[in-house]
Amino acid sequence: MRRKLVAGNWKMHGLRAQLPEVEAIAAAAAAAPAVDVALCVPFTLIHPAAQVAGGLPIGAQDLHEADQGAHTGCISAPMLVEEGATLTIVGHSERRGDQHETSHDAYMKAAAAHRHGLGVILCCGELEAERAAGRAERIVQSQIEKSLPDDADPSWLTLAYEPRWAIGTGKTPTPDEIASMHAILRAKLRMMIGEAKADGMRILYGGSGAGGNAAHILALDNVDGALVGGASLTAEKFIPIIEGAASVS
Ligand code: 13P
Repeated sequence: MRRKLVAGNWKMHGLRAQLPEVEAIAAAAAAAPAVDVALCVPFTLIHPAAQVAGGLPIGAQDLHEADQGAHTGCISAPMLVEEGATLTIVGHSERRGDQHETSHDAYMKAAAAHRHGLGVILCCGELEAERAAGRAERIVQSQIEKSLPDDADPSWLTLAYEPRWAIGTGKTPTPDEIASMHAILRAKLRMMIGEAKADGMRILYGGSGAGGNAAHILALDNVDGALVGGASLTAEKFIPIIEGAASVS
């Protein structure tokens, strides 16, 4: 039985003035013991958020594949761990788009995170033009082939399917499209890491997830949680998603 995971991705949002939101989200998470909740905040908020988060896991949104070195402006897994992060996102489509990151980069970053004991949310997802061209499935499968860590295991790795065109747009795939892609991902995982591990691995949906559609999406087969952007920025918007996950758990 896979527990639902609701993870917030604050992206480049949040100053210390928003720490009360972290506290309120942590309190709501504590009140929903059937669901796992995590918050991936900007690097600058990891330490202060971890201090007010109680048991709520605080994560990063990216990291460099090396532990240290001449990489101006980058951050490494040991640095994240020292600040109090317990997980990180890798391969987010905004990193792929804005920073030209590849699936191989995501593979290297996931390995670096795991070396230092961080949990990893590994993202995949197609562009709108790729879906329109009927290539969505192949693109997502290829991303997983190139980015899935060699020692992928549900104890530390979670997948997230985030179609690029659904992120921050208010558009979502149909329930059938989501269920179909998640089934394809599950089948791909089974082929790559075997049934037992594949069946234990959580596959989150991300893209315009909000209180209104959360419970419906989270109830779909093979949807084991949500990776939430805009609606995770305030407790007011994020708590209904946590409650929606709890209602289908
Ligand atoms: P939105 O929920 O704002 O569409 O963002 C989704 C996302 O990219 C989470 O990583």
